[in-house]
Amino acid sequence: MKAVGVFPGRKEVGLLAHAAPERTAPDHVKIRTIEVGVCGTDREICTFDYGTPPEDSEYLVLGHEAVGEVVEIGPAVKGLKPGDLVVPSVRRPCIHSNCTPCRADRQDFCFTGDFTERGIKMTHGFMTELFVEEERHLNIIPKELKDVAVLVEPLTVAEKALAQIWQVQGRLPWMNGSPEPGHGRTAVVLGAGPIGILGAMALIVNGFKTYVYSRSAEPNPKADLVNSIGAKYVSAQQVPVKEFAKTVGHVDLVYEALGVADITFDVLKILGLNGVFVFTGIPRHKPAIPVEADNLMRDMVLKNQIIVGTVNADRPAFESAIRDLGVFKKRWPKAIASVISGRFPIDAYRELLLGKATGIKNVITIGSYS
Ligand code: BGC
Repeated sequence: MKAVGVFPGRKEVGLLAHAAPERTAPDHVKIRTIEVGVCGTDREICTFDYGTPPEDSEYLVLGHEAVGEVVEIGPAVKGLKPGDLVVPSVRRPCIHSNCTPCRADRQDFCFTGDFTERGIKMTHGFMTELFVEEERHLNIIPKELKDVAVLVEPLTVAEKALAQIWQVQGRLPWMNGSPEPGHGRTAVVLGAGPIGILGAMALIVNGFKTYVYSRSAEPNPKADLVNSIGAKYVSAQQVPVKEFAKTVGHVDLVYEALGVADITFDVLKILGLNGVFVFTGIPRHKPAIPVEADNLMRDMVLKNQIIVGTVNADRPAFESAIRDLGVFKKRWPKAIASVISGRFPIDAYRELLLGKATGIKNVITIGSYS
């Protein structure tokens, strides 16, 4: 089969011939890949700063944001049949019996560090024609969402974050039980990439007044998209943080989706009383930068603030993402479609992975729906 992979030992990225996978357990499902999203993590793996091939392979097949169609099921598969559309999750549990999270299907909180991730860490990914997966790591997708299903995985970042925000803010008893928990509250999203835009949509649906603070000057297409869903785009290049703070007022939540520390730590200074700051971006290794640590610490204490870092996602986050994509599609059909900025054949992998980052979510089309 054709596959896109990296050879870290040789520092090469290329199109390679990968053996077709076989089902080897009764709960295995064989899937034909339809689309795979390209994200910052894939691009970073292509700089050989991140990512590890399986132990017995000199290469790693890339791709962890996928949608595919079931072609074969094992005898123990109960909830899927050939023709169903599925989105796989990314992380697989470690093998240690004392890892309570992994044993409870919460490998997103694995504490041994020996988890694997498809297309990222020690397990091949989905940028190839067929893949095999255990049924429990697959999420069924309603057919009417097939054109946006490749956005499920990136949306799970916001969904897992939101689930934790509600848990953390459960410390404020008067917030409990509100049907639209963000109502009357203000959120700032940092970054207008796919994670930021999908996060902004999720925050709006949950009732937050939402600002997206991102580098690029206006006008630009991402700003137009953000403004079209009822959020307010503000350019960090045009409006410094201090001035931005005056427009926004009390900031209840910051959802960081930038992956760089400088603007992020500046915005931490404007987090309001009882506020939550969620980090989702993974910065590259860089030289240290100065931060106003004493002032930040003082605010964190005197303002009851919480900072949460979040990575990966559990099954409920996938279920929420699938549900919310349906909501977004009804509410903003044009905007959600335009989050996918381009669909490309597999041969375009080089430009998408190694060229200048362009658009919002670029997708590689590998197969077609039956
Ligand atoms: C993926 C996550 C993964 C993380 C760290 C992200 O790009 O979406 O599933 O856990 O990278 O490897």
